[in-house]
Amino acid sequence: MDYFEKINQLPIKENPIILGIESSCDETAAALVQGGRVILAQEIISSSVEQAKYGGVVPEIASRAHTDAVSDAVNGALKKAGLKFSDIDAIAVTYGAGLLGALLVGLSYAKALAFSLSVPLIGVSHIRGHMAAAYLADTELKPPFIGLLASGGHTAVTVVEDYQKLKLLGGTLDDAVGEAFDKVARVLGLSYPGGPNVENLAKQGQNNIALPKMLKGLGGYNFSYSGLKTAVINYKHQRDQKGEDFNKADLACSFQSAALDILVDKAIEAATEYSVHTIAVGGGVAANGYLREQITKKCANRSIKVVLPPKPLCTDNAAMIAAEGYIKYVNREFSDLTLNAKAQVSLV
Ligand code: KG4
Ligand code: ZN
Repeated sequence: MDYFEKINQLPIKENPIILGIESSCDETAAALVQGGRVILAQEIISSSVEQAKYGGVVPEIASRAHTDAVSDAVNGALKKAGLKFSDIDAIAVTYGAGLLGALLVGLSYAKALAFSLSVPLIGVSHIRGHMAAAYLADTELKPPFIGLLASGGHTAVTVVEDYQKLKLLGGTLDDAVGEAFDKVARVLGLSYPGGPNVENLAKQGQNNIALPKMLKGLGGYNFSYSGLKTAVINYKHQRDQKGEDFNKADLACSFQSAALDILVDKAIEAATEYSVHTIAVGGGVAANGYLREQITKKCANRSIKVVLPPKPLCTDNAAMIAAEGYIKYVNREFSDLTLNAKAQVSLV
C-alpha cells in the first residue's frame, strides 16, 4: 500500500494530536496541539537576535537558521509533551505566505516526517493560522465572529462565518499595519523588531501630534497606511532640516494611536453591522498593549466579547498552525506530498 492509500484509509480521530511546524520568517517553531484547542507543548527557536544586526530579516540567514533548528524544535516539543513520534496523528505545516527558502525548510521536514510516519500532511496558510490562534485562546469560541487580522503582511476585517469560511469585509489598500510599524521604527532609528520598540517608546510619549486619520469613516472596512507613514517621515524630515528638536516618543505615541484606533473602530463597526457579539484579534500587532487596552475598553462598553490570544500566540508560533490544521484535518483536507511553498497566499 502506498502512502496515499494508507492516509485515505485512516479514520478521523476525535481528539487528534497534531504537530504544527512554522518556518515562514525568523522563528522555527513546533507545537503539539490536541483536538485543535489544547496546546500540549511548544518550542520556538528564533534567529531574531542574529537578524537584528542587519536591521531586518535576511532570507538566507533565516533559511540556514531553520535548517539548524527544525529538528531540535520538533524534538524539543515532543520531549516537553512527553510524547513520541508515533503519537502524532497529523502534521500541519505552513506552506505560505513567507520567505520561500525559509518555508521550504519546514515544509520539506514535514513532508519527510509525514511520509515516514504514514500520517496526513496538512499545508496551512500562515495568515489563516494567525486567525486560528483565537481557538486556542478561547477553547469555547465558535463562529460566527468578527476576525480582525493585524499582522506584518496583512490588515483585514472579516466575518468568520464558519471554521473554514471567512468573508472579507475590507483590508489595506497599501501597507499592512505591522509593516507601517516596522517602517516608522526605522525612521525613528529604532532597532529590529520594529513593532515592540515603537510600542515601548510610545509609552513615554503623548498623543499630541496631528497625523492623518486614514480613511476614518471612509472606504468601508478598508485601510490605508502609506499616508500615515509618509506623514511621520515628513514630520521628522521637516524638523531635521530646520535643525529643530522634536519629541520622538510623542511621534511614536501619536503614530500608534492613529494606526490602531481605526482598527478597533472598524472591527466594532463590523460587529454592529453584522450583529455579531464577538471579535477575535490575530497577528503580531495584536501583541500591542495599546491595541489590547483600547479594544478591551471599547468592547466592554458595548457588551462585545473580545478574544485576544496571549502575546506569544499573536506573534509567530506553531500552535496556531496546528489549530488551523485541525480544521482541515476534520474535513480530510490533506495535502499532496508535491505541495510547494508559496511566497503569497490570499486570506480568503
Ligand atoms: O503577524 P506577524 O507574524 O506578521 C505576519 O505574519 O505577516 O507579525 C509581525 C509584525 C511585525 O510587523 C511587527 O512589527 C508587528 O507584528 N508587531 C507589533 C508588536 N509586536 C509585533 N506591532 C506593534 N506592537 C507590537 N507590540
Ligand atoms: Zn506571522
